Amino acid sequence: MTGAQWWRDVVAYQIYPRSFCDTDGDGVGDLEGIRRHLDHVAWLGAGAIWLSPFYRSPMADFGYDVADYCDVDPLFGTIEDFDRVVQEAHARDLKVLVDWVPNHSSDRHRWFVSSRSSRQDPKRDWYWWRDDRPDSAGGHGPPGSPGRLPNNWQQAFTGVGQSERPPAWTWDPDSGQWYLHMFLPEQPDLNWANPEVRAAMADTLRFWMARGVDGFRVDVVQGIGKDPDLADIPDADQPPSGTNDRPETHEVIRELRKVVDGWPDPPARMMVGEVYLPTTAQVATYYGTDANPELHLSFNFPPLFAPWDAGAWRACIDAVVANLDPIGAWPTWVLSNHDNRRHRTRYGSESRARAAAVVLLTLRGTPFVYAGEELGLEDAVVPLERQVDPGGRDGCRAPLPWDATAAHGWSPGPEPWLPWPPDAGGARNVAAQRDDPASILHLYRRLLAVRRASPALTGGDFEWLETPEGVLGWVRSARPDDRRVVLVDFSGAGGPVPLPPGRWDVEVETSGAGEGHTAEGVIELEPDGAVVLRPK
Ligand code: GLC
Repeated sequence: MTGAQWWRDVVAYQIYPRSFCDTDGDGVGDLEGIRRHLDHVAWLGAGAIWLSPFYRSPMADFGYDVADYCDVDPLFGTIEDFDRVVQEAHARDLKVLVDWVPNHSSDRHRWFVSSRSSRQDPKRDWYWWRDDRPDSAGGHGPPGSPGRLPNNWQQAFTGVGQSERPPAWTWDPDSGQWYLHMFLPEQPDLNWANPEVRAAMADTLRFWMARGVDGFRVDVVQGIGKDPDLADIPDADQPPSGTNDRPETHEVIRELRKVVDGWPDPPARMMVGEVYLPTTAQVATYYGTDANPELHLSFNFPPLFAPWDAGAWRACIDAVVANLDPIGAWPTWVLSNHDNRRHRTRYGSESRARAAAVVLLTLRGTPFVYAGEELGLEDAVVPLERQVDPGGRDGCRAPLPWDATAAHGWSPGPEPWLPWPPDAGGARNVAAQRDDPASILHLYRRLLAVRRASPALTGGDFEWLETPEGVLGWVRSARPDDRRVVLVDFSGAGGPVPLPPGRWDVEVETSGAGEGHTAEGVIELEPDGAVVLRPK
């Protein structure tokens, strides 16, 4: 894609490197595994890949604890392997987004090692260090005891097999202070109020742009600016990682935007932020304004958390229309990622997952597909003894099965780091579904092709259609005369749905059955069915 704002035109495909494909026999996916399967992504029709972290990391949070922002972890390969991925992705017209984790580093990052070494260290203020709070509730006891925590914040993760969230502070006995970590103790929060931190992190963006990276997915971006007083929050049960929404953050993002927009070589580079906040109105503010732009794109998670229900989805879409359109902010759509149960699992059936694919790929905005959703993968059932994630997210990170053989296209060797998802040896692998034109994989491919070819579906306007209860319908249109009608049954009952005037070709149908037929006046939706119609 060559459009100036190419991120509006593409479908992005998220790859979680550990789970994509292993080529060196250690049971963990690697960059070479990604390179070998770029053809799959191109065949599917995506226009960009987003790689979750592959940086040097002790893997306390499987890579979201970065020990060196500018190097590849040997588990995944080398920087040359990365360069090959970029080169071969670009050769297939795929943009490359990398994950960038600014809120926190690993506790093994040299910056934190230095910061921790003494109160006088020049990098002490690169992280959030605080004294014991003398007057906290029951605030006596020895230094570093729970009654003397600096505030009431809790970390986001409970830890493997735990149900209570520990405090967001860890006591460092050697230097006699607490440090802040909104996630694990192994993920100390960087202090973005410090201009040296801003400069050092901006350099890491430049490092990857110089290697040809087209953009960044910015991890928990709403977290980076903090209340300078680190005051208690009213609801201590809500970890601040998901509620922090501060003016300081917007100021930092505006600076980062200048770094990214200021990169001299084409194409334009972009940032998509993981704004992990509960309302679309909050998310909208992270796009900034024309005069003071912030993120190029932002994730908006309310739809991901919505049940498969027409009313709930209508409300989510209305919130996007009401909050993003008026400020010219381009939406994104996500159903699944590496942090949440897959939508095939949440919604409970493949037919719903198929209908959801039609929603994802025909709304106004940039869709993000999480590797494996094109196969209708369900979460793996991970027995207690194989659970590894402190955030309880192992199921959606199951390895991707490429074929039906015992090793499923991964290097034969030890079992992969997580169990295979259900039916990997039957219909749930790439090879089996490529051979089956009726598979969900082929449905995704048709939807991506239809979307790419239609200005209405990529960039066009959105308008609701009147539909019967339990069905949602919309029209996408672009000048001069490109138009698509989309109808989606959420009720599970299907039934007749009136059509706008004219004759309509069924361009895509979730089951594939009606494709190529013409409809006029009314169309019969299959239960859990969805269609894309084009004027005849
Ligand atoms: C984001 C990532 C998640 C990670 C967390 C901390 O939410 O998506 O995987 O654990 O940030 O970096």
